[in-house]
Amino acid sequence: MASTAARPLLLLASAVVLASFLATAAHASGLFSTLPKTLVVTASPTPGQVVKGGEDKIKITWGLNKSLPAGTDDKYKTIKVKLCYAPVSQKDRPWRKTVDHLNKDKTCQFKIVARPYAGNDSVEWTVEKDAPTGTYFVRVYAFDAVDGEVGYGETTDAKKTTNLFQVEAISGRHATLDIVSICFSVFSVVSLFGFFFNEKRKGKAESK
Ligand SMILES: *[C@@H]1O[C@H](CO)[C@@H](O)[C@H](O)[C@H]1NC(C)=O
Ligand SMILES: *[C@@H]1O[C@H](CO)[C@@H](O)[C@H](O)[C@H]1NC(C)=O
Repeated sequence: MASTAARPLLLLASAVVLASFLATAAHASGLFSTLPKTLVVTASPTPGQVVKGGEDKIKITWGLNKSLPAGTDDKYKTIKVKLCYAPVSQKDRPWRKTVDHLNKDKTCQFKIVARPYAGNDSVEWTVEKDAPTGTYFVRVYAFDAVDGEVGYGETTDAKKTTNLFQVEAISGRHATLDIVSICFSVFSVVSLFGFFFNEKRKGKAESK
């Protein structure tokens, strides 16, 4: 039996457990496969265009698909715009895997913007410098008042093969720097050997 002193603690603990259970339950419905595609999303890069991380800006626009009944977006409170890996950049990389459970999905790892839903809207974004070199598309999620996904739209088709663009990571330039510094190191080692060799030869010549 719990002592009188322990009772408030027990109560608090159960409240915390209940609260976290409710929070999980509220998000449990988040399956991508059941999410309606209601938003029309476009991004400025042309198919196959290469944009540079940390440098180039892209513009993304979104709004409700006008073919849908008015009021479809009545519950939309906020939107999140994300940069997502195309299948070709997910291959053999389980840490980028697409999972139907939206809270486990690793397709869209880069947040472009989160803001209140306001119908037609757009954003200009400098491609994040941490985004690895790869093939991407843009997806926009709509959330309701309790932060559950209620709709989405994306710049590609259902198979994620059209309108993809390339991001060239800033680290591409680091690689060039690495090569330059390796060349310098090799050069200095070679010169050092050359120096010793020369000294030795000189030494031999003098001892004759
Ligand atoms: C808009 O919705 C209609 C009807 O559901 C659909 O046929 C059409 O493909 C959608 N347009 C876009 C750009 O998603
Ligand atoms: C939103 O954009 C679409 C497509 O550009 C346009 O047809 C529609 O009239 C716009 N709606 C509003 C409310 O501005």
